[in-house]
Amino acid sequence: MNETINLMKRHRSVRSYRPELVPRAHVRAAIEAGQAASTSSAVQAYCIIHVTSDDERQRLVELTGGQAKVAACGAFFVICGDTRRHRLAADRTEAAYDVRLEAFLVATIDASLFAQNVALAFESMGYGICYIGGLRNSLSEVDAMLGLPEGVYPLYGLCVGVPATSTEMPPRPRLPIEAVLFEDRYPADDAMRSLMDAYDEMYSAYLRKRGAEPGAWSSAMSRMHREPRRGDLAAYYASKGAVLG
Ligand SMILES: Cc1cc2nc3c(=O)[nH]c(=O)nc-3n(C[C@H](O)[C@H](O)[C@H](O)COP(=O)(O)O)c2cc1C
Repeated sequence: MNETINLMKRHRSVRSYRPELVPRAHVRAAIEAGQAASTSSAVQAYCIIHVTSDDERQRLVELTGGQAKVAACGAFFVICGDTRRHRLAADRTEAAYDVRLEAFLVATIDASLFAQNVALAFESMGYGICYIGGLRNSLSEVDAMLGLPEGVYPLYGLCVGVPATSTEMPPRPRLPIEAVLFEDRYPADDAMRSLMDAYDEMYSAYLRKRGAEPGAWSSAMSRMHREPRRGDLAAYYASKGAVLG
């Protein structure tokens, strides 16, 4: 189609990296590309923290559930929703700062559009990336380590670096487009179930090819959503001044 689309379709998460650091010039170029993403009414309710200390990265390995790549990759970042500047703007004009769930959603959406642009920019430079949701295992500890003020809260991490192996694993297959692109109306559950059946077979074959335990995508989703995960998130985000209701 074109080079940008080809790059996007080659994406796969990279979990093993060579030790070279990502030069600061590359970091700045990717972040500036990220900032070019659309942002709700230009609120730009995000920030990204480049964690450069070896000790802190080692500590983050523990805080993300033992994910060694957090210390081993060429650069590690924490992506945050950031409403701090809006609070400062309100203070400056002595106006009230009175928000609801919308402000939290806007920050989360803006931060994710920004982050994905950053990730894509790094991939366009030949780096591999992996998002780290495991950061939400220990938000209070991550928050204390980074010294985050009220209004700033981590959403996830991002590993970036030179992939350790050049062996091209095929990208992880996605749902058939018919399961996500609908014209005018949402499909009936039966139609969706048969698309899921087809995808389950494709997904299991992909895992087998990777040398992993084969298994259907539906079974993995069912296992994942059997019980609540990270049940303390609302309390943490509320403690940072987010209004969740
Ligand atoms: C917000 C987010 C958090 C993620 N957290 C982790 C993580 O903590 N550890 C990890 O190894 N992969 C993580 N991933 C990567 C996903 O597992 C991966 O994107 C998904 O399985 C699809 O595979 P692919 O990216 O190789 O296509 C995360 C992805 C996203 C978008």
